[in-house]
Amino acid sequence: MPDKSATLILFGATGDLAHRMLFPSLYNLYSDGLLPDPFRILASGRTEMDDDAFRATIRETLGQFVQPEMLDDERISSFLNIVGYVPVEAGNAAQFKALAARVKKEGSDPVAVYLSTPPSLFAPTAEGLAQAGIVAADTRIAMEKPIGKDLASSREVNDAIGALFNEHQIFRVDHYLGKETVQNLMALRFGNRLFEPLWNSEAIDHVQITVGETVGLEGRVSYYDGVGALKDMVQNHVLQILSIIAMEPPARMDSTAVRDEKVKALRSLRPMTPDSVGTHSVRGQYRDGAVKGKLVKGYAEELGNPSDTETFVALKAHIDNWRWTGVPFYLRTGKCMPNRQSEILIQFKPVTHSIFGRDGYQRALEPNSLIIRLQPDENIRLCLMAKRPGLDRDGVKLQEVGLDVSLAAAFEGERRRIAYERLLLDLLEGDTTLFVRRDEVEAQWTWIDSITESWKESGQQVVHYAAGTWGPSAGIALIERDGASWYD
Ligand code: BG6
Repeated sequence: MPDKSATLILFGATGDLAHRMLFPSLYNLYSDGLLPDPFRILASGRTEMDDDAFRATIRETLGQFVQPEMLDDERISSFLNIVGYVPVEAGNAAQFKALAARVKKEGSDPVAVYLSTPPSLFAPTAEGLAQAGIVAADTRIAMEKPIGKDLASSREVNDAIGALFNEHQIFRVDHYLGKETVQNLMALRFGNRLFEPLWNSEAIDHVQITVGETVGLEGRVSYYDGVGALKDMVQNHVLQILSIIAMEPPARMDSTAVRDEKVKALRSLRPMTPDSVGTHSVRGQYRDGAVKGKLVKGYAEELGNPSDTETFVALKAHIDNWRWTGVPFYLRTGKCMPNRQSEILIQFKPVTHSIFGRDGYQRALEPNSLIIRLQPDENIRLCLMAKRPGLDRDGVKLQEVGLDVSLAAAFEGERRRIAYERLLLDLLEGDTTLFVRRDEVEAQWTWIDSITESWKESGQQVVHYAAGTWGPSAGIALIERDGASWYD
């Protein structure tokens, strides 16, 4: 077991993510006595302020973002006692020196660094730390997405960080991997005998992965425009889910075995070409409409100028290997959808021979499906055919029934943790299993680049959809052409 980090340096500490997620998570871990002992948090941002001023901002944040039952004034005060603030701007060697002096005075080794900053600051910050003597063989560094904006730029970031840290010291965050529900996909697949023999092209017709969000731009214009749904969501979260659904069973639950299998699946994604991209992808952008009864301005209107950035994308992906050949993976994600809904559908093939012929209603049998809902509630539903009670004078009547498992109900009373609680704890304890390895990021970008380049070459434009709908009709046609339909 590697040593636990005793000091956490958090860059971007005045930012939104730090306030909404990272500090509430650290506070929750502190409340449960799960942080290492001794432990010190040195928060850092560009803004000049002292410890007390920073602590006051965190006190306010905790009141807003921590579950009310976890709030306790005294506990917040003792938590804030382990938090200090040091202003540091990338490139300012004197400030990095001051940070190093504080780490030396107040902190202990090993150090963990969390970069919750724009990616352009990853390399300069790591270099500043190294020059100030803060980087050692046991220092860990965590980075938020995005790692680059394409394969080439992600390599530059990874090279710059890799020049100072070994791969086992680098923690690339994809917060979906911190979600209990995403980890549960592995439990479902590999903790049960039931599914694995059927988890292949013999028995599965197709797979759907949907990550729908009701939110729109949320004031993130400067980041989002020019990035779009493909790079913001598919490149990371959706492909991570896909890799867990598609991977071969790892030999054991450790960071090398799991990530080896995930990267093999990612590398098997068939690249898009200018010829295939038109039938295998749809780019959408929301115009004005209503989400959950609230009027929403269109993307371009919110932005203030026309834009070709997609806020919705639907894709038909193929994984070219023995397990998945011929099984399409339909992926879609979008902003301003009718519901916040993340879901996976495994659509099985029909029975090989139906002894019932068509059912008593003259319908064919419904093939089985497994629906794994990740958000907002955690639910697993297996749809099965069952006999409708009756004397069957005019033929057996079958009907689809759901076998439902609500994980919230099954584990009632267990606190659902913020994804970042798990990730921060794993960072401090040096476990990289739920972080993205360099080769995974590169395999993800390789496939995404094949799509963006094909879009460019074929001139594929965004099509508009009304906010509050499941995307443009072309997104529906993408799957219906194959005789299937999205599970909403
Ligand atoms: C982030 C994206 O990575 O994930 C956001 O940048 C998106 O655009 C968010 O809203 C979704 O995360 P969650 O946990 O709310 O599903």
